[in-house]
Amino acid sequence: MASLSSTLLVTFYLTFTLLLLLLCSHVVTARYHHHGHRGHHNNKKQHKHNSHISDPPSISPEPSPSTGDEGVYDVRSFGAVGDGVTDDTEGFKAAWDAACQVESAVIHVPVGYTFMIQSTIFTGPCQSGLVFQLEGTIMPPDGPESWGSNKSKRQWLVFYRINELSLQGGGVIDGRGQEWWNLPCKPHKGPNGSTLPGPCDSPIAIRFFMSSNLTVQGIKMKNSPQFNFRFDNCKNVHIESLHVTAPIWSPNTDGIHIEQTSNVEIYDSLISNGDDCVSIGAGCYDVDIRNLTCGPGGHGISIGSLGNHNSRACVSNITVRDSVIKQSDNGVRIKTWQGGFGAVSGVSFLNIHMDNVRNPIIIDQFYCLSKDCSNRTSAVSVSDIEYSSIKGTYDIRSPPMHFACSDTIPCTNITLSDIELLPAKGELVLDPFCWNAYGGQETLTIPPIFCLLEGNPPSVFENNDLGYCSSS
Ligand SMILES: *[C@@H]1O[C@H](CO)[C@@H](O)[C@H](O)[C@H]1NC(C)=O
Ligand SMILES: *[C@@H]1O[C@H](CO)[C@@H](O)[C@H](O)[C@H]1NC(C)=O
Ligand SMILES: *[C@@H]1O[C@H](CO)[C@@H](O)[C@H](O)[C@H]1NC(C)=O
Ligand SMILES: *[C@@H]1O[C@H](CO)[C@@H](O)[C@H](O)[C@H]1NC(C)=O
Ligand SMILES: *[C@@H]1O[C@H](CO)[C@@H](O)[C@H](O)[C@H]1NC(C)=O
Ligand SMILES: *[C@@H]1O[C@H](CO)[C@@H](O)[C@H](O)[C@H]1NC(C)=O
Ligand SMILES: *[C@@H]1O[C@H](CO)[C@@H](O)[C@H](O)[C@H]1NC(C)=O
Repeated sequence: MASLSSTLLVTFYLTFTLLLLLLCSHVVTARYHHHGHRGHHNNKKQHKHNSHISDPPSISPEPSPSTGDEGVYDVRSFGAVGDGVTDDTEGFKAAWDAACQVESAVIHVPVGYTFMIQSTIFTGPCQSGLVFQLEGTIMPPDGPESWGSNKSKRQWLVFYRINELSLQGGGVIDGRGQEWWNLPCKPHKGPNGSTLPGPCDSPIAIRFFMSSNLTVQGIKMKNSPQFNFRFDNCKNVHIESLHVTAPIWSPNTDGIHIEQTSNVEIYDSLISNGDDCVSIGAGCYDVDIRNLTCGPGGHGISIGSLGNHNSRACVSNITVRDSVIKQSDNGVRIKTWQGGFGAVSGVSFLNIHMDNVRNPIIIDQFYCLSKDCSNRTSAVSVSDIEYSSIKGTYDIRSPPMHFACSDTIPCTNITLSDIELLPAKGELVLDPFCWNAYGGQETLTIPPIFCLLEGNPPSVFENNDLGYCSSS
């Protein structure tokens, strides 16, 4: 046993070196893709870098340097103070209303100031090319007590019905989550990890709703009360160089949640938090995640949970590559409730390094929060899932690979290649878990997996009406 694990260790170090080399070779491709770095200057053009978004016909020429301040809306010119105490909501709203009318306007939040803003909805439609240039700090009121009784406690800043918006800059969003995390209803507040009755709503820090052609770049976000970023019903989202932090014990502080949203890129970002790093909900497709570091802490990258309350969910064409997941409860996860409909298909996890992760690779079609969910025959189907070059270490409290598929609708076409997962400490777990999971391995995996069923399920499962997802 000892000699086996030391052989494996050597193999692991060799492959880890290879992985580093691979990562380095990606520098070139990734750089190329990003068209270089855009600074604070010339920000009027910054929204156009998304490769999926073609440049609009150029009508307005770049303003000449002499009129450089034209089209720049400094929130202080609209009454915002930025002393960290004054309520700056009206100043931001006024700056928004003015900038919204003007093509390629820049709302400027200057460095060296801290602005306190109440829960607000920034509504479009606006003229295209709006830039929210965050260089200073913005924050909400401090905790539920000071929230304002008739303000939504479910969200802080919402961007609604906007086409072409870039939220960018080197500034900070300080979510001041502490008092929200400590509400009695939160999981860790009751005795022995139980919850207590009491108010529970906590605001999502930044929401984009029914918007398109969005960029979020360079922003630092800390201590969100709940989800950090949430996108619903959006199209063409590019996220780059985002840095999210929240304590590992902070409840429900998902980094980026997307729902009914397509054509999403998440690149070169760091997320260390208390819940999912990125979570992908129903109706999402064409999602590309690269060079993301998740952890330390958190629950890894999740597709799901899907199919709750017998709902239909369709998720397809998701790629996660060249990323690192550290000290997380999960690595890459697909989770569905029993009783749902629809399908998850075409998901690739490529070149992912795991560092002491519990459940590095997991499909769970029995997701259930109460532990007593009844057995159902329908399920969101899971098929065409590729895992390639998933390496690193796992926490031996769970098997490193876990494929728990529905009794009635097996997972199909799960492919594994180049998997090398070793215990962070302790004995190798030699028995990955499979239940009703079909697929194959292209190379021997470490640990070896024998429980995947070859080929297709005997009764070829036809996508019936209930499982139907229109191809995107
Ligand atoms: C996003 O931008 C592209 C190119 O500018 C444009 O064709 C498209 O209509 C925009 N999306 C929406 C939903 O407005
Ligand atoms: C919200 O509260 C403020 C004062 O606390 C009050 O002036 C305003 O009318 C209220 N708005 C609504 C929509 O209730
Ligand atoms: C918490 O757990 C301890 C030990 O398991 C037990 O003695 C104690 O009664 C529990 N407290 C409550 C309030 O459940
Ligand atoms: C990956 O992202 C980090 C920021 O998290 C950045 O510093 C690094 O340059 C990126 N690597 C590549 C290959 O682009
Ligand atoms: C999958 O999504 C990527 C963007 O992430 C897109 O470029 C590609 O065309 C999509 N593939 C299919 C088959 O739709
Ligand atoms: C649900 O199904 C599983 C496996 O098929 C079985 O072990 C379990 O007892 C069932 N649970 C209920 C509540 O019927
Ligand atoms: C299996 O899934 C892969 C993607 O992971 C896809 O390219 C391939 O066509 C699928 N095979 C079958 C037989 O559907």
